[in-house]
Amino acid sequence: MKQRFDRDRALQAIDQLGYFQSVRWWEEIDSTNRCLARELKSDNPPSLPALLVADRQLAGVGRGRNSWWSPSGCLMFSMAVPWSIPESERATLPLQVGLAVAQSLADWSVDQPKVKWPNDVYIEDRKVCGILIESSTRRMDGNVEEYSIIGIGINCCIDWTGAPEELRASAISLHEASPKSLAESISPESILVSVLQHWRNVSDRSRMDKQWLGREWAEWSWLEGKWVEIVSSGSSLIGLAKGINSSGALLIEDRFGRTHAVLSGTVRAIEDGC
Ligand code: BTN
Repeated sequence: MKQRFDRDRALQAIDQLGYFQSVRWWEEIDSTNRCLARELKSDNPPSLPALLVADRQLAGVGRGRNSWWSPSGCLMFSMAVPWSIPESERATLPLQVGLAVAQSLADWSVDQPKVKWPNDVYIEDRKVCGILIESSTRRMDGNVEEYSIIGIGINCCIDWTGAPEELRASAISLHEASPKSLAESISPESILVSVLQHWRNVSDRSRMDKQWLGREWAEWSWLEGKWVEIVSSGSSLIGLAKGINSSGALLIEDRFGRTHAVLSGTVRAIEDGC
């Protein structure tokens, strides 16, 4: 059985990673992304990489205009990381984060978690994790520093009573997907440590071997081999999802056999190409 983690043990394990220059853990906060964004531009800003974890979020933010339902049992944290990826590969960041989450949750789940491009994580076709990445700059010691705030929300052990109706149908909590022997060890603290360990591995490997992410993607992509519709800048494209390129663009093969590389958009799986 995996060890049960409380906050102190999690902080110890995070310290052992030797990665973060600043770690803060709040009991209650509006949103870890919003709070970290404010702190990074304050008079006493944390050095990067920085981590902010919250037990409770009062105004969790999702992508677009969405909010993030943040009940007890949900892991909510944000990391601020300096830009170390070349401009042409920046769209790979969300994919690296999604992959790190999927690979860490695989240690706890019967079904393999999958990443829905660009970065939601699904188990049994239901969303277990949402990721919100926001990039910004600040002046530090006379230099401009570019960074991304990576906000991650993971449904670890959630009681869905009282959840919005649409979530009950579309979301899953990790403990529902775990074997009984592991379900008890799942807590926001234990999953946090596991995700951070995988994040270090994924970001290191992606940096050292530019082909690594693309190779892993085929195994971990929820869309791979599915017919999809992607809507981007008001136009729609239908085709088969066929991996990613080195820029992180989704490769879609249309019904005429032409391949399109799409860097951003909203994608959904459809029945077939007709
Ligand atoms: C989405 O799927 O729309 C993205 C959801 C991201 C939620 C996380 S929870 C921790 C961090 N703080 C926030 O306010 N949002 C992100």
